[in-house]
Amino acid sequence: MFVCVCNAVTEKDIGDAVAEGCRSLQELRKQLGVGACCGRCSDCARGVLQDTLQGHASHRSAAMPHLAAA
Ligand code: FES
Repeated sequence: MFVCVCNAVTEKDIGDAVAEGCRSLQELRKQLGVGACCGRCSDCARGVLQDTLQGHASHRSAAMPHLAAA
């Protein structure tokens, strides 16, 4: 699904950016351009970012419990 139509950014693009280290909307904006044009995608992008980060955290806690609190 497209999150940012202006810059053709999908949920997968955000997931890939998180996997590469993005942890904030500002970092997504810098790397992918999310929210840098009309800005209508910012709330949706923030939600996808949070969901993705939580998914990473739960995956990490299951696989590497010593890193879950990090
Ligand atoms: S839809 Fe993302 S900046 Fe316009």
